[in-house]
Amino acid sequence: LVVDWDPVAAEKDGYPHFMLKEIHEQPTALRNTLKDRIEGDRVNLDYLNLSPEYLKGLRNISIVACGTAYHAGLIGKELIEGLLRIPVEVSVASEFRYRNPLVDEKTLVIVVSQSGETADTLAALRESKRRGAKVLAITNVKGSSVAREADFMFHTVAGPEIAVASTKAYTTQLLGFYLITLYFGQLLGKEMPKELYSGLKELPVLAEKVINETEKRIESLIKPFEGWGDCFFIGRSLDWHVAEEGALKLKEISYIHAEAYAAGELKHGTLALIEKDIPVIALATQLEVYEKTISNIKEVKAREGYVIALVQEGDTETAKSVDQVLEIPKVPSLLTPILTVLPLQLISYYVAVARGCDVDKPRNLAKSVTVE
Ligand code: AGP
Repeated sequence: LVVDWDPVAAEKDGYPHFMLKEIHEQPTALRNTLKDRIEGDRVNLDYLNLSPEYLKGLRNISIVACGTAYHAGLIGKELIEGLLRIPVEVSVASEFRYRNPLVDEKTLVIVVSQSGETADTLAALRESKRRGAKVLAITNVKGSSVAREADFMFHTVAGPEIAVASTKAYTTQLLGFYLITLYFGQLLGKEMPKELYSGLKELPVLAEKVINETEKRIESLIKPFEGWGDCFFIGRSLDWHVAEEGALKLKEISYIHAEAYAAGELKHGTLALIEKDIPVIALATQLEVYEKTISNIKEVKAREGYVIALVQEGDTETAKSVDQVLEIPKVPSLLTPILTVLPLQLISYYVAVARGCDVDKPRNLAKSVTVE
């Protein structure tokens, strides 16, 4: 029996696409990124050699990135402002340096880049240093330009990400923000929530569970998208920022126009676009705003939109108001993004495959945008 040796197929470990392989690699990528950085109730990023005095002297933090990495920054802002009470601004790199940003020696700039070669992000790093700020890079490529030119570096141990659509880089970037936030909190002498330390350690196993549960139901989850060129992702707080990432995933590989919206904003205009059976993915895991999110979901249902809701395990209420429910394992609200993004990645992937798209190499796109 002669089996054609296909090195590219071998690199995919038998998966039909790099993207599916990389989605499934996330539990391992999370485990590897956590390794040796969390011991009991303490995060250890001592290698950064950051002093409490430096952190105490900061006036603000500025997060700069593009695309998916920018969406990770949106979560980073909520974590840092919520737990450390340091003002955080998040910018897309292509806008950052053209608007005279509030960056000087009292600013820590955090640049996020999977490849570490994105031209806009690299330019933002250089502009930040020119203005006297120190730069911390969250990147997946150790020898990259961003990694080399930053003052501090957090390496996401996701392994090479080949598919243009970023998946494991995003979830490990989020992990980077959790670890950095907790570590800064420790240096600042703040009491960090204990449940975050234990919760982070459980994420790789829970991620595996969510991936497997979603794939079991994938046929019914992708069916509502059949024949649609438009859809919405809605949520509040952290769920809204994950909705942004979910919309980008669907757009860039299936070419369906997807829009992410703060659920509370629908009534200010976009609700006019909700029509019978239009697919709407609603994230409702943030318990602090749960009631409000449910009423936004009901606004969509009243216009006969088709709603798939992502809820925290044990929430039996939402199912009564929507068409399909995906339960996310119970974790502290702050930790849900790393789990809620997984079904969105898988739905995007399988919708794109069903539409016959080139999933790993979508039209018009490159893996790393090294030109401005
Ligand atoms: C993500 O799915 C996209 N491929 C794209 O938005 C990407 O996140 C962006 O170009 C940033 O790339 P980087 O993380 O390598 O800087």
